Amino acid sequence: MIAKGLFLLAGIAVLFAAWLLADGLRAIWRRRRDSLRQRALETPLELEVVAREEHAGQLLCLHLAAPEGGRLPPFVAGQHVLLQGPAGKDGRTIRRAYSLAAWSPRPLRYELGIKREEHGRLSRWLWDHLRPGAQVSLLPPRGEFTIGLGRHAVVLVGGGIGITPLRAMLHALLEQARPVVLHHCARHEGELLYRAEFEALAASQPRFRYLPTLTRPGPDWQGGRGRLDADRILAACANPRHAEFHLCAANAMMDELRAGLVARGVHGEHVHHEAFGASATATPTGLEIRVGDAVCVTAGEPTLLATLEENRLAPESECRAGTCGLCRMRLVGGEVHRLLTSDLALAPDEILPCICAAAGDLRLEAANR
Ligand SMILES: Cc1cc2nc3c(=O)[nH]c(=O)nc-3n(C[C@H](O)[C@H](O)[C@H](O)COP(=O)(O)OP(=O)(O)OC[C@H]3O[C@@H](n4cnc5c(N)ncnc54)[C@H](O)[C@@H]3O)c2cc1C
Ligand code: FES
Repeated sequence: MIAKGLFLLAGIAVLFAAWLLADGLRAIWRRRRDSLRQRALETPLELEVVAREEHAGQLLCLHLAAPEGGRLPPFVAGQHVLLQGPAGKDGRTIRRAYSLAAWSPRPLRYELGIKREEHGRLSRWLWDHLRPGAQVSLLPPRGEFTIGLGRHAVVLVGGGIGITPLRAMLHALLEQARPVVLHHCARHEGELLYRAEFEALAASQPRFRYLPTLTRPGPDWQGGRGRLDADRILAACANPRHAEFHLCAANAMMDELRAGLVARGVHGEHVHHEAFGASATATPTGLEIRVGDAVCVTAGEPTLLATLEENRLAPESECRAGTCGLCRMRLVGGEVHRLLTSDLALAPDEILPCICAAAGDLRLEAANR
């Protein structure tokens, strides 16, 4: 009897030890996988420009490929890469996010659509330097603004250059044979990037509708006119209660559409959005910004992060749109204008300099991490 009990106890102990061992091995494997993923995300890819097209004097379509050919790292439709170039003050390298504008399960090229911003540092540099044959450095695909697998209809709403991640999503959704409505809002016809492709797809794919809307249409324009609103989006959607909505446009437009859709019964969790950054406001010049013991002065930069970068006082940053949280700092004196709302949870004294502008002299400290 005692022997039987001891045998049973030994069996349980062996099982428990095996379970502990398996759990430990799983944890080691997970840590190793995460560190490999992180390392891959931080290792730049050096790609070559293999095609370049300009539209309307300010939109640049680039195709990038590995110089030696071959497949590029795969990505989920909606993700972006971080392009790098020596466009900062004194030729310093800076980086910005650009959405992958075409999707394939095994990409041989990355396609990008880039708007040349009037005073923008990197977008102007890219426009001037990235010609066929040029090399460019970028950090691999990343980002949470993506579509998954599913059956329900999807409504894509893009404003201006916000069409780029939606085009990649469209490619992936058509592959899944899902019904898709794509709204693209722009000022005039020249800004309707990828229009010919979307019209051809809409003519050949019964599940896809392309609905461009212009705020400054020419006299012959046959499509939508004026500002797009939630009513028009819902009117074009067969079953809004079950549809998924993905928005990428100017922040004010996305806020308005999101609120309008939710007010008309769309579940908030079905409305996804991506901001490309805070709308530019030039900060007044001559404001004093203290970071610890260092001091700098504003010179008309669009955001507080830009001022800090110009003076080598910036924290790490990635999205420049209030979504990654990397740039957070403590505001210990002074006031900022918040240019964009963020969904991140911040301590009462924390700010995100990428979506703030100084409203007067400021005292900042590194955030507690
Ligand atoms: C996830 C994500 C995806 C993105 N995808 C794309 C994409 O596919 N295509 C795309 O074109 N962009 C995309 N962006 C935006 C892109 O990352 C850059 O923010 C954009 O190209 C501007 O960068 P820049 O260096 O040219 O401008 P910056 O130098 O950073 O300036 C930012 C803005 O401020 C303005 N500005 C600068 N200085 C002044 C001044 N003194 N007075 C007034 N205004 C000023 C500039 O004109 C510009 O509009 C994306 C952003 C994110 C977060
Ligand atoms: S850089 Fe991502 S939140 Fe500021």
